[in-house]
Amino acid sequence: MSTPFHIPDHALLRAKLTRLRRRETDTVTFRRALAEVGAILTSEALRDLDEVETGIETPVGPMRAPALAAPEPCLVAILRAGLGLLEGARMVLPEAPVGHLGLVRDEHTLRPTEYVVRLPRDLPARGALVLDPMLATGGSAIQAIHRVKQAGATLIRFACVVAAPEGLAAFRAAHPDVPVTAGALDERLNEKGYIVPGLGDAGDRCFGTE
Ligand code: URA
Repeated sequence: MSTPFHIPDHALLRAKLTRLRRRETDTVTFRRALAEVGAILTSEALRDLDEVETGIETPVGPMRAPALAAPEPCLVAILRAGLGLLEGARMVLPEAPVGHLGLVRDEHTLRPTEYVVRLPRDLPARGALVLDPMLATGGSAIQAIHRVKQAGATLIRFACVVAAPEGLAAFRAAHPDVPVTAGALDERLNEKGYIVPGLGDAGDRCFGTE
């Protein structure tokens, strides 16, 4: 099985991604655009959630209408930059519990080390959408999905803003069962592990720590 990989065909997503990529975009604009992209990617990644039909009353009369089937998924943000996507994800899924995974990339080995793991207790009864803006080497995303699987989640999906071919290949090899939704698939990684052309360091640009 090969990981399903989906880039939503949406003009708004492309325009917001261009805003994120521009070197001159300031922190406030970057943060807002990242949240907006988070909302779009979350909607797209969860577009095939199970639904149930339910009887409701509109102000004009009764009807059968679709609602999300229980249990709804939770959101898991990979710290730090995943918080920027989470802001928008929570606009479209406000009831979802939120997990946090703190993974820091060793500058030399480029491998992720965990410094915080806080996941919803009812994870085994839920699906999970894991969020991180950059799928670069794939190390953090792969480790995060391992953690979420270990905690018992079954229907897991991953969303990122920009993916590198190297990261996507590693992710596919590690988690062929986890669909990926991305804003773009870029050219490559550079020698420092940054995506080219990418958008720079998403965490620094989101939190003004450049
Ligand atoms: N993390 C980032 O924030 N940007 C990259 O290009 C790669 C990893």
